[in-house]
Amino acid sequence: SMAEKSFKYVIIGGGVSAGYAAREFAQQGVKPGELAIISKEKVAPYERPALSKAYLFPEAPARLPGFHTCVGSGGERQLPEWYTEKGIELILGTEIVKADLASNSLTSSAGATFKYDTLLIATGSTVIRLTDFGVQGADAKNIFYLRDVEDADELVDAIKAKKDGKAVIVGGGYIGLELGAVLKLNNLDVTMVYPEPWCMPRLFTSGIAAFYEGYYANKGVKIVKGTVATGFDSDANGEVKAVKLKDGRVMDADIVVVGVGGRPLISLFKGQVAEEKGGIKTDAFFKTGVPNVYAVGDVATFPLKLYSEIRRVEHVDHARKSAEQAVKAIKASEEGKTVDEYDYLPYFYSRSFNLSWQFYGDNVGDTVLFGDNDPASPEAKFGTYWIKDGKVVGVFLENGTPEENKAIAKVARLQPPVEHVDQLATEGLAFASKF
Ligand code: FDA
Ligand code: NAD
Repeated sequence: SMAEKSFKYVIIGGGVSAGYAAREFAQQGVKPGELAIISKEKVAPYERPALSKAYLFPEAPARLPGFHTCVGSGGERQLPEWYTEKGIELILGTEIVKADLASNSLTSSAGATFKYDTLLIATGSTVIRLTDFGVQGADAKNIFYLRDVEDADELVDAIKAKKDGKAVIVGGGYIGLELGAVLKLNNLDVTMVYPEPWCMPRLFTSGIAAFYEGYYANKGVKIVKGTVATGFDSDANGEVKAVKLKDGRVMDADIVVVGVGGRPLISLFKGQVAEEKGGIKTDAFFKTGVPNVYAVGDVATFPLKLYSEIRRVEHVDHARKSAEQAVKAIKASEEGKTVDEYDYLPYFYSRSFNLSWQFYGDNVGDTVLFGDNDPASPEAKFGTYWIKDGKVVGVFLENGTPEENKAIAKVARLQPPVEHVDQLATEGLAFASKF
């Protein structure tokens, strides 16, 4: 049988949270051989957001090792040598297929066993596939999903092979909007298809969405709303050729990219940890109900103190911060100390074409749109406030300067009262800049 390895700390998963957790462990102090990261991926942790942006640029694309963690937030770039220097074992290309939390043991697909004293679950999300709900022909070649660098490499090859061809994007969320833009930059003829009346409905108001849809249309991206892909035709090589829509339309396609949501990877721990809102339930230190087992990043359902609610967040800023919080808590508990509860201000962002938006806070309540949201304006800058119970609870801003983005973050954290909602429309960004 294969050798068994034991570590004081094991991180399962080698994504964003793992990279930031490793940095925090190194800062707090780990002895050589105490910490291991076990990852299905063949490469050291990297900044996943690059994959749907600069990785796919037609000119000077980002490539590893350029964007290993923690460069995405201005930190040091942790190359494999960094892990070696710190005495952290990177166990790559290794998928864990069994986790037995009662015996502190993990088993890989190759049959290796890993023991730990403390486990950090950082398995992130996987993509929801159209084959999961039996869409006809959805297993054709050149239908792509995007989660890791291997997926991105396959897409890059297809973009080269189908030069000036037709691309259909299924889904109008983050992946849909970012991929729609970057495939257009690659000179593909792009059509986006999504079921909702406007893009990114889980965050955007119709007013926000109108700007992006108009901007994309001006760039030549075609948008088909209110319908879904019900099937795919492929040629004799098994390559996708057409997308059939529920409304009866058929669209030619050489490349299809699907972004219809993610699903946290928690099945290894089924029945062993409490689940809530699709994730693993944790406390404000990312500790699960099982002693010495923590869960961070996309998989954690944690108390969001600011809103007295438990939430799961699938964004990079939380992946970084939750990892740091968990490691601080682990280290403190070993010395009989505690750390402050996680007090997270939700922060989401996206970039595409020359656009860049940031959002802080909670998108609940009434909304007020301000600024110039004409997609034809050369310097369009606009935003939206969300107001609940007479207080500003969320702010969105397109094309903000670093100072302006800091100001909206501050407002979302402070939740200042507003007497007249109209005042926000008139003052616009000036309202946020007062705080
Ligand atoms: P993450 O997915 O980063 O890492 C999980 C790791 O666990 C992977 O290495 C995986 O292979 C590994 N793993 C899973 N199961 C395993 C097993 N059984 N055995 C071994 N290893 C296993 N967010 C944002 O705020 N702004 C942005 O612009 C973007 N952009 C973006 C683009 C793309 C293409 C994606 C897919 C996602 C984003 N995100 C984002 C979301 C953000 O990247 C995401 O929330 C974080 O990566 C989550 O970090 P985690 O560490 O939780 O999971
Ligand atoms: P998403 O949840 O953002 O968007 C899913 C979209 O899929 C919906 O808005 C809807 O338009 C569409 N949809 C749902 N069912 C459909 C169907 N049957 N047919 C066609 N469309 C359908 O998910 P995503 O864009 O796939 O992103 C996956 C993950 O990656 C998420 O965790 C996301 O947070 C993350 N991500 C984040 C960023 C960012 O923060 N900038 C960028 C890329 C990816």
